[in-house]
Amino acid sequence: MSKVKLHDKEFAISITSKEIDAAVAKVAEGINRDFHGERPLLVVILNGAFMFASDLMKKLTVDCEVTFLKLSSYQGTTSTEKIKKLIGLNEDIKGRKVIVVEDIIDTGFTINDTINSINEHEPADIKISTLLFKPQALKKPVDIDYVGFEIPNDFIVGYGLDYDGLGRNLPDIYKIIE
Ligand code: IMP
Ligand code: MG
Repeated sequence: MSKVKLHDKEFAISITSKEIDAAVAKVAEGINRDFHGERPLLVVILNGAFMFASDLMKKLTVDCEVTFLKLSSYQGTTSTEKIKKLIGLNEDIKGRKVIVVEDIIDTGFTINDTINSINEHEPADIKISTLLFKPQALKKPVDIDYVGFEIPNDFIVGYGLDYDGLGRNLPDIYKIIE
């Protein structure tokens, strides 16, 4: 499928599942190298990162655990810049090495909020992994440790990312046609 329609908007294919797989492998290699002999805890930011997290975890060869944090900031195709915490962390992460797993870093508000929430639980260390990063949209600086793709400032869907609930099931990533 080279084009899809979701609600009122049309999207064109932008990143294929094959390219995604290679980017996920690159992120996994970085983690496997840096966490050799350790036991990191992956903190997956729901909903968008579920597909990336699943594929990423299958490529990890180090011992690792997973937990989930549910946040929401987007309404339609724009960030509200107000982050709602919908499911909090209940794991004991004190002293653990945490790797945050995000689908996309856009304005940077969600990731900054996430880091602050996790820091309250006194982890030993926090590293950030994201499949996608829009450097031109960034409003709050953040140090990202593992990035799949740097992309332009276009709204995208697919591979876990949605437009008002739809599009998460698409195996490829599509960008909005303006
Ligand atoms: P931020 O707080 O602006 O960095 O936005 C981060 C969150 O907004 C991500 O975790 C996504 O869930 C969502 N988001 C950002 N950009 C897009 C996009 O292009 N398509 C779909 N969701 C997005
Ligand atoms: Mg997200």
